[in-house]
Amino acid sequence: HTSTGAVLRSAVPLPAPFQLPLAIPPVLEPVAQDDFADRYEITAREAMAEILPGLRTPIWGYEGIFPGRTVESRRGRTAIIRHRNELPVPTVAHLHGGRTPPESDGYPTDLVLPTRGWDHGHHGMHDPRASIARGSREYIYPLDQRAALLWYHDHRMDFTGPAVYRGLAGLHVVRDDEEDALPLPRGEREIPLLITDRAFAADGSFDYPSLDPSLTTVPGVTDAYAAGVLGDVVLVNGVPWPVHEVSATRHRLRVLNASNARRYELALDPPPPDGPAFVQIGSDGGLLASPVAHDSIALASAERHDVIVDFGRYPVGTEVTLVNRLGTGSTAQVMRFRVTRREPDDSAIPPRLSEVEPLRREQAVVTRDFAFRSGRHGDRRGWLIGGRPFDTGYVAARPRLGDVEIWRFVADLHHPIHLHLAHFQVLSRGNREPHPLDAGWKDTVDLQPGEAVEVITRFEHYRGRYVFHCHNAEHEDMGMMATFETT
Ligand code: C2O
Ligand code: CU
Repeated sequence: HTSTGAVLRSAVPLPAPFQLPLAIPPVLEPVAQDDFADRYEITAREAMAEILPGLRTPIWGYEGIFPGRTVESRRGRTAIIRHRNELPVPTVAHLHGGRTPPESDGYPTDLVLPTRGWDHGHHGMHDPRASIARGSREYIYPLDQRAALLWYHDHRMDFTGPAVYRGLAGLHVVRDDEEDALPLPRGEREIPLLITDRAFAADGSFDYPSLDPSLTTVPGVTDAYAAGVLGDVVLVNGVPWPVHEVSATRHRLRVLNASNARRYELALDPPPPDGPAFVQIGSDGGLLASPVAHDSIALASAERHDVIVDFGRYPVGTEVTLVNRLGTGSTAQVMRFRVTRREPDDSAIPPRLSEVEPLRREQAVVTRDFAFRSGRHGDRRGWLIGGRPFDTGYVAARPRLGDVEIWRFVADLHHPIHLHLAHFQVLSRGNREPHPLDAGWKDTVDLQPGEAVEVITRFEHYRGRYVFHCHNAEHEDMGMMATFETT
């Protein structure tokens, strides 16, 4: 196997970068509200989008758009979202980073079938515990958790890669009083950046290897699948290489890597004349204890970083490019900021941001080992955890509620490992101290090739079955997922 897969080349002319304005995903309005809960409805459906100028691209979108509308929630207010499925295939909705009861977490066989068709018994979904809905399902998110940037996306067994690639992803922001009390940039100066890569076929559609809506079994390893699907067009909030005008003030960039497989290392070009490019204030699971400065920030699939960039350090008129140091050619650039005017700035980065209780090694009652490697299982090759592909009948771990555990991951190649339900802290990386970017609460950690990483977590909130998996969407579809059950 190879560590760098072939990048799919678009068969259409690509637009010049930094011409199209950045779009901010619109906010989803609740359909009803009471003292405790906000109710929403989201319909996944086929739609036509204009992503490259003048080209029509068929997508699968929540509400027919990509990315979907942003859900805005307050900590402790329950969001109840009815997901309707008007697509020709089953769907599963998962709130990534949400502390969610198991029946609403989007276990990969808890399908929402299309309104008609798809007798699930004929399609390899032989999970006796699966809860199958037809047409729609209500997902209940208590959101009893810290303010953080979460995202929702499709999570159907064996089919996450193609479904998310076609557009099934959106942001879900959780806010709370603790964060609101901080003098961070807000309003127009708080900018979500959902970064993805795609390739376009000659007819304008997204190019994806062996995209087959009837695919329900683990596909064979192809070159494209081995590394995950990589495109040559970088989209930010669905716009190719956008440009965004900013005042010469601090901005809060809430960055999500929603790509199937691509990793980014983001930097500013030119770098600011003094000091580091980014001050990180938050991670997957919300605010850090205190800010951390970085010249560049790396993100694997599904990781989020919450960073402050002070454009006040640049002269008015400067064009600042957000570059990707891990890309080449068209994927070396992400977007551009144009610094347009001076403006008073009353924002600040407080030296103390949040309470983050450090979990200590001595608290752990058990250490579990999981190896993430490619290999053979029966007559198939795939991506495996502990030598097994995903099997709904096999429970890889049964943590007890309230227990602190260390999970030790080893990897052959890059694998961004994600746990549902549990947020964790990185305890060690390659037998050394964690990287500065590992600070705070995480739900996804990128393993480097050959590396062993220890994470520590306390299992809390709900009893039931959840999954953990590689968030390289193609690796996940090819089996690199397993069940754990909190008891
Ligand atoms: Cu972002 Cu199991 O998912
Ligand atoms: Cu992987």
